[in-house]
Amino acid sequence: MTNEHVCPLHMAGLLDNWVRRLIHNPKKIFHDLIKKGQSVLDLGCGPGTFTIDLAKMTGEKGKVFAVDLQKGMLDLVEKKADKFKIKDRIIVHQCGKDELGLTEPVDFALAFYMLHESGAPESLLKDIFNILKPEGKFFLVEPKMHIKKEVYLEAVENAKKIGFHVESNRKITASWAVVLKKVI
Ligand SMILES: C[S@@+](CC[C@H](N)C(=O)[O-])C[C@H]1O[C@@H](n2cnc3c(N)ncnc32)[C@H](O)[C@@H]1O
Repeated sequence: MTNEHVCPLHMAGLLDNWVRRLIHNPKKIFHDLIKKGQSVLDLGCGPGTFTIDLAKMTGEKGKVFAVDLQKGMLDLVEKKADKFKIKDRIIVHQCGKDELGLTEPVDFALAFYMLHESGAPESLLKDIFNILKPEGKFFLVEPKMHIKKEVYLEAVENAKKIGFHVESNRKITASWAVVLKKVI
C-alpha cells in the first residue's frame, strides 16, 4: 500500500481551508475519541489541518506531537499554534522517511491521508503500535480518490497482524476510515 508520492508543500492550502473543514469537521470526527489531558500523535500532520483542533480538545494538560517529513509543513503548524496561543501543547517533530523517531507513549494516534504516501507502511504501523499506550487508539483514514478498497483493507489486515483490533469503522466523507485499538 504505497505510491511514495509525498503531498508537496505548495498543496498545503488545499489541505487546510474552510471547505475542507466543512467536509472533514474536526469536532465531529474526533468528539468521541479525544479526552482532556491525553497525548496525541498527528502523523503526517501536513499544515496542521487537524493538529490545532486536537490540541484544543486535549486541553491545557494534553499535548499533540505534530509529525511530518517536511519542515515546511511543520513551520505552518508552528505559525498556527502561535496564532491560537497553544504552542506549549504542540511539539513539532520532523521525522525521517518511514522512521517515526519518537518514544514518548501516546493515548491516540492519527494518520489522516498519509499512510499511502509512506514507502514502508508496515514498519510505520509497527512504530505506531509501539508508541501507543495499552488500550490506545489509532485512527487510520485514507482517501478513496487515491486508494482502492482492497488496498485499504490490506493495510487494516497488516495492522491486525501487528496486534491491532478493529474497534469501529467510521464514516468520513470520501474516505476509508477505521479506529484500531492496541490490545495487549
Ligand atoms: C496528504 S497530506 C495530509 C495532511 C493532513 N493529515 C491532512 O489530512 O490534511 C500527507 C502528509 O503526510 C506527510 N508524509 C508523507 N509520508 C510521510 C512519512 N513517511 N512520515 C511522516 N509524514 C509523511 C506529507 O509530508 C504530508 O504533509
